[in-house]
Order: sequence, then structure tokens, then C-alpha cells
Amino acid sequence: MAERNLDFDKVINRKNTDCIKYDFAQTFGMPEDVLPFWVADMDFEVSSYIEDALAARVRHGIFGYSDCSAHYFNAVQGWMKKHHNWEPQEEWLIKTPGIVFALAMAVKAYTRQGDGVLIQPPVYYPFSKVVADNGRRVVENPLYLGEDNRYHIDFADFEQKITAEKISLFFLCNPHNPVGRVWTKEELTRLGDICVKHNVVVVSDEIHHDFIWSGVHEVFANIKKEYEEISMTCTSPSKTFNIAGLQISNIFIPNSTLRQKFQRELDAAGTSHVGVMGLTACEAAYKNGDEWYQAMCAYVRDNVAFVKQYVEERLAGVTMIETEGTYLVWLDFRATGLSAEELDRRIIHEAKLWFDSGEIFGDSGKGFQRINAACPRSVLNEGLERLRVVVQ
Ligand SMILES: Cc1ncc(COP(=O)(O)O)c(C=O)c1O
Repeated sequence: MAERNLDFDKVINRKNTDCIKYDFAQTFGMPEDVLPFWVADMDFEVSSYIEDALAARVRHGIFGYSDCSAHYFNAVQGWMKKHHNWEPQEEWLIKTPGIVFALAMAVKAYTRQGDGVLIQPPVYYPFSKVVADNGRRVVENPLYLGEDNRYHIDFADFEQKITAEKISLFFLCNPHNPVGRVWTKEELTRLGDICVKHNVVVVSDEIHHDFIWSGVHEVFANIKKEYEEISMTCTSPSKTFNIAGLQISNIFIPNSTLRQKFQRELDAAGTSHVGVMGLTACEAAYKNGDEWYQAMCAYVRDNVAFVKQYVEERLAGVTMIETEGTYLVWLDFRATGLSAEELDRRIIHEAKLWFDSGEIFGDSGKGFQRINAACPRSVLNEGLERLRVVVQ
């Protein structure tokens, strides 16, 4: 059967579908008629293979406790092998209903109350939240913006923080949300060697690994055998195939001691199985979703280029940070001369746009905004036009 859902220009009304992106503006303190570019899901229909697999499951009519067998794992491993040159083993896999949940479980499994957990802001805000919510300390190794318009790692500070703060756990965002870096093998090796030297567990959140516009995604655990032993790799079909609402992620922990510690926390939290719809969609996606994925990527890549061109030509004072990966674009408004508060006010209340304001990713995000470019180009254009009017 041929793929059907390849029209990414199609504008689909998501209102009144209980989706967080469109239906909860007022709950989040936004005007009701705001145009959203914030939360990281896409405004595209999923692959028709996912749709059909879910429909077949619905028609069966029974939704009892479920688990997966070899065909599920083969689909997951096949994807990792084909797209990431990585062959995770079946016994490494633990499925969870989401990656943020897995991050919280890792905090509990690998640290104690009061311990520090290292992060690299500006970074996906639940990284600091799950640390603080579990009574641990957030320790920051801030990224810095280089002259090449890309963010970089301060390796000396990274190691200094590990020793000074007795760090045993580091959250790596690979590729990095929101700054769009696809970390190179050299950068990851420098980080990895420091972590091996100081016995630091690395949680590598690779949820954005399938959105690579320049460079190559390196699976952290795949770089050296030693990294396998100290790491947990978080993957999920949710971003790649736009199925975040189905809550399925695949967490790989090669080291058996680390895996058992993580499993103990899942048991203590009372979780056992994931949902059957997530399993069904994940398998269908990884098995048959490649054509849809390739077409979606080509479209989103063009969207990212479209934003870049728009910003360069029409948004004076705004700089787009080089987006090497992810569908999230990080815009620097500091040269507009507007304060972060005034910028938010104009974007939200005048332009009626809903972006993610930069400071939620850490203090260094002040004066920046993150926008989600995974939507029909006409919608993206509308958002940029509205933005232009208020920053002129
Ligand atoms: C880096 C990163 N990790 C995790 C998530 C969310 O994962 P989940 O929905 O599986 O909890 C996101 C979503 O935007 C993300 O950007």
C-alpha cells in the first residue's frame, strides 16, 4: 500500500481536539486567538501506515494489558541501524511513557537528595524542573554563543563543575533543544572522556536525532564502549512521527547495574506496561514510515531555510542561530533594543503569537525566543508576518 499522507502544505484545524498547542491558550495565560508556535509537536498528519495500524487496532475492539515482542524490537532496532548506524541490544531496552518521565526516574536512580545534576543551559526546561522537583540541585555548565553563530561547550567549566559539585549525573541534550546544535563526535568525545574519568552517568536525550540539517547525529553510547557502560540513551518516535500524545519512548541502558537501578525506580513508581496504541504506532512508524519521514524532513528543512531567509531579509535586529538540527528555531532579538518583557508583550498581545520565551530555558535565554517550524509554510509565513509588524 502506498503512503497517503504526504501533503505537508495542508492546514488541518486542530482546534477542539484537546491538543495542548491550540486548545489551552487561556489556561496558559495567553489570549484565546493566539497563533501557536511553542510546544514541540508538528501540525502534520502522521504517516498513513501509523493511521492504518491504529485503525486496525481500534477495529479489533479489545484493549487489554499489552506488551511487545520481537517484531516490535526488530522495528526499533532496524530504525536505529539504518538511520543512526547503531545496533542496540534487546536486553538494553526499557519502555517508558515518555522521556521526561525517564529523566525523572534517572534522577531518582542515580543521585541522592541534595546531589547536583549537571545541565547545559539554555536547555529544554524540564531538565532543570525534574532535578529541582526531586530535591536535587541544578548545576549549570552554560553554553556560549560563538562568533560563528553557533553555541559551544565550555569544557574547562564542565570538568570544574563536575569536581567542585561532586556531580554523578549529567543530562546531555543531543541534538540540543533549543540552540539547534548537532554535537560533533569530537565534542561528544571530550564530554564523554571527562564523564568516564569522573564516574558521571550520562543521560543522553536523543529525541531530536532524526532532524539533522547539517553534520551527523552521533549516538553518544555508540562512540566508545566505555560510553555504553556509563550511559542511558533516550529515544522516542514521538517527535519524528508526531505521536507525542501516544506516550511511548524507548530507553536503552546497556550496563546491567544502571539498568537495574532504573528499573527499580519504575517499579517503585508503580509503572509496569505502556499503552498498546503507543506500541502499535511506534512499530508501524519504524517499520513503514520511512517515505513519510523523508518527505516530512525535506519539507521541514525547507521551512527552517525559509525562516532563515525571512529573518535575514525582513527582520532587522533579529538573528537566527544556525539550526543544525531539530525543528525548533532559536531567534536572538537582543539587537532590536527591546527589553525581554516588552518583546514578550508585543509578541503575545500585539502580534497574537505564542512562542517559547527564551528565559524559560535558563537566564542566558533572555532576549531570545524559540519557534516551532514544523507546520504548513503558509502558517509559518503568517507567524513571521505578524512578528515583523511588531518588531519593526
Ligand atoms: C529534548 C527533549 N526531550 C524530551 C522531550 C519530551 O519528551 P516526552 O514527551 O517523551 O516526555 C522534548 C519535547 O519537546 C524535548 O525537546
